[in-house]
Formats: sequence, structure tokens, C-alpha cells
Amino acid sequence: MQKLVIEGGKMLCGELKTQGAKNAVLPVMAAAVLCKGVSVLDNCPSITDSYCAVRIINCLGMKAIQSGGNCTIDAAVLDDNPTIPDRLMREMRSSIIFMGTLLGRIGRCNLYYPGGCDLGPHPIDMHISSLKRMGAQIEDEGEKITCCAPNGLHGCSIALSFPSVGATENIILAAVCAEGETVISNAAREPEICCMADFLRQCGAVIKGDGSGRIVIEGVEELKQPEGEVFGIYPDRIAAATYIACVASAGGEMLLTDCTPCHLEGVIPIFEQMGCYIKAFGSNIYIHKRDTLTAVDTIRTMVYPGFPTDVQAIVMAPLCTARGTTVFVENIFENRYRHTLGLCRMGADIKAEGKVAVVSGVKKLHGAKMDAPNLRGGAGLVTAALGAEGTSEIASTEYIDRGYENIEGNLTALGAKIRRISSG
Ligand code: UD1
Repeated sequence: MQKLVIEGGKMLCGELKTQGAKNAVLPVMAAAVLCKGVSVLDNCPSITDSYCAVRIINCLGMKAIQSGGNCTIDAAVLDDNPTIPDRLMREMRSSIIFMGTLLGRIGRCNLYYPGGCDLGPHPIDMHISSLKRMGAQIEDEGEKITCCAPNGLHGCSIALSFPSVGATENIILAAVCAEGETVISNAAREPEICCMADFLRQCGAVIKGDGSGRIVIEGVEELKQPEGEVFGIYPDRIAAATYIACVASAGGEMLLTDCTPCHLEGVIPIFEQMGCYIKAFGSNIYIHKRDTLTAVDTIRTMVYPGFPTDVQAIVMAPLCTARGTTVFVENIFENRYRHTLGLCRMGADIKAEGKVAVVSGVKKLHGAKMDAPNLRGGAGLVTAALGAEGTSEIASTEYIDRGYENIEGNLTALGAKIRRISSG
């Protein structure tokens, strides 16, 4: 068990390189399973979710190694009847996208219901019904799911009832080597889908329209990354938003490099409305916060390009000490206000019920002992602790390590007082 100990009230100042995107590296690794050869990726984040994907690939009989930002996946051979064990499926929600990729590659797989952060129910009905339309037979035996496609997968038209990121990824993965054309309407538009599609195109896939609500995939015989090519994972827009929020909370200034500012179009205006100075240029974002922040009227989480659900807890942290009241409406997940407990322990004034949380700004937060309730909730507590008076202890760091590479090292380099300790 580890804890992050944060002495708040230290201004942040300096430059930080944006890590590779957690939500892109997993689908790209799953896509590499479709390639009959070696794929080389770089800018992979050193986070436990990424290592979990590596372990899944290895347990299916392939060879994956991640070292620093580089990951090599040799998918030349894999098990005849691939099974992802329950313990690995439980580690992250996005493990479900191995269903599409294994059906596409070998026509069968066995897996379990996925786990990950407890954000309320996470049904996979759209994943299952879409893959069934493409010719898969899927037996749901409670916890275990057995899938096969005895006659191979075929293209078809799929209209999603909600633009689910995971379902869109699963369909693309199943469709790239299926027979004929697949058209997804009401597809998710998140940049991580474009990242996966870019990698698949590098390997010979024919995909059009990713980034829009209508994606068209023409099945091809075989995928292979051309020798000598390396695929770079997109920068992490959620980690970028987190470090911007840390500066908004603690004060100071920062140059965030190697990011893609246009992926943060739903987020940057919120920091500007709070009173932060933000300037995006090229692949950099400069942020400066000096004065007291101002509340933002209403923040509604939406599908991309709207305000991301993953940034809700993180942006709430600096708003706890803003002048005025901010209303949050969480439209994507049911159970995503558990971090408010920790924030209130630090002195925040938050009333949360159902989809809505009302944050009334207080003068200051004070240090407290808290538990990270999940990945982004934990990041929100770190963000708040940096701006609070006194010392905070945040336990259950394993959630934070799922998505943030060297968070204490990065914040220390910016001038924060933060250290990791092992506790009983
Ligand atoms: C979600 C986020 C994504 C983020 C990721 C990691 C959205 C829309 N998606 O993706 O941006 O990167 O978490 O934290 O913000 N649903 C169903 N049936 C299904 C699939 C989904 O009802 O078969 C519902 C979910 O319960 C949820 C919503 O659709 O309410 C969004 O789910 P989805 O986009 O699939 O979630 P993730 O892929 O996990």
C-alpha cells in the first residue's frame, strides 16, 4: 500500500512534457494483435493500465514488451483458443476491446466481464449486439463470455444508440479484416479512436471518417506494420488537463509541451472562464494563474468534443476555492462524484445528488487524509491538495498509477512538495 503525501500551498512553475494517452495506447495495443508480425509503438505511457494490456497480450501466447515509452508486440503466433483470465479482465474496463480484435484475428475468444474503476454500471450490450450483427456467436454465461465466428465476420451497417467509445473501437477492430464494408453511424468521435485508426491504416487497413459520426471500414486480407515504421501514441489530453488544473489549483505558471491543444477545445474555455490565462501555440499550452478563480456557471460532461467526463473530478478541485457557485452535471457515468467526499474532508462545500453536484466556493481548503476513490477522482484529490493549506495524505495510489506516469516526479519538478510513501 502506498500513499502520496502532499504539502500544499507551493506555487508550480516550469515545463512539462505531456505523456502518451492512456485511452489510446490500449486500443492501439489491441489493434497490434491483428497484425501478423511485429508492431513497434512509441510514446507509450509508463502506467499500470498499459502494463496490464501487455500482460493480456502475453497471456494469449503473443510476445509484448514495454520498456520506457517503447512497446514491441510480436503477434505472429497466438493461442488457438485464446482466453483472457478473469483477474486481467477485472483490472480495466477497456479490456473488453480484445473481444473485437480476437474475433477479427482468429474467430474465437473467451473472456470475462471487464472491471476497472467503479463508476457505476458499465453495460456492454452495444458491443455484443454489434459483433453479433457481424456474424459472431456470443454466449454470455453470467461472468464468462464465449465468442466465436464459425463463418468469419462480415461487414454490415451498425447504428449505435449512443456514441460509445469502447463499442466504436470494438466494431472497428472486428471490421478491419472482416469481409466487405462496415458502416458505423452515431460513432464516437474521440481522438483516441483516430489514433487507433491511424495505426491500423499504417498497417494497411482501409478506414474512413474516424473523428466524425460516420465511420466506413472496408475489410482487408491482412494487416502488418511496414518494417522500420514506428507508431507514436497521441498525447494524453486528460493528463494535460490534469496538470493545467494543478496549476489552476496551486497557482503559478507552466508550459505544457508535446500536447495537441485542439483535443482540449472542450476544456480550455473552462479554465479561461475561471480566470486563468491560457495560450495554445503549436503543440504547447502555456497556463498562468495568479488571482482568485471565478466559478463557472454550469459544466456538463458530454461526448467529444464536449467537456470530458474524465476531467470532471479534476476541474472540480480548483473550483472548490473559486468565487461563486459552479454546477456540474455528469451525463456519462452514474457513480462519478465519489471524490466529493475527499474534497469535503478538505473543507470544500459540495452537494452532490444523482447527476448534479453544486460546488460553492470557499476561501481555502486544508490538508486531510483521503482515499483515492478511482483514477480520475484520485487525480482530482491530488490537484486539490496542491492548493490546500497544510499536509494531505492520499491513499489507494494504485488507482492514480493506472493513468499517470510518474505523477510525483512531474509535480516535484514543477516545485510541488509531494512524495510517495509505503504504508502498512
Ligand atoms: C468512456 C468515455 C471516454 C473515456 C473512457 C475512459 C465517453 C462517452 N466515453 O469510454 O471518453 O476515454 O471512458 O475513462 O465519455 N454504454 C452502454 N452500453 C454499451 C456501452 C456503453 O449503455 O454497450 C453506456 C455506458 O454505460 C456509459 C456510456 O454508454 O453511460 C459511455 O460509455 P462508453 O463511451 O462506451 O465508455 P468507455 O468506452 O468506457
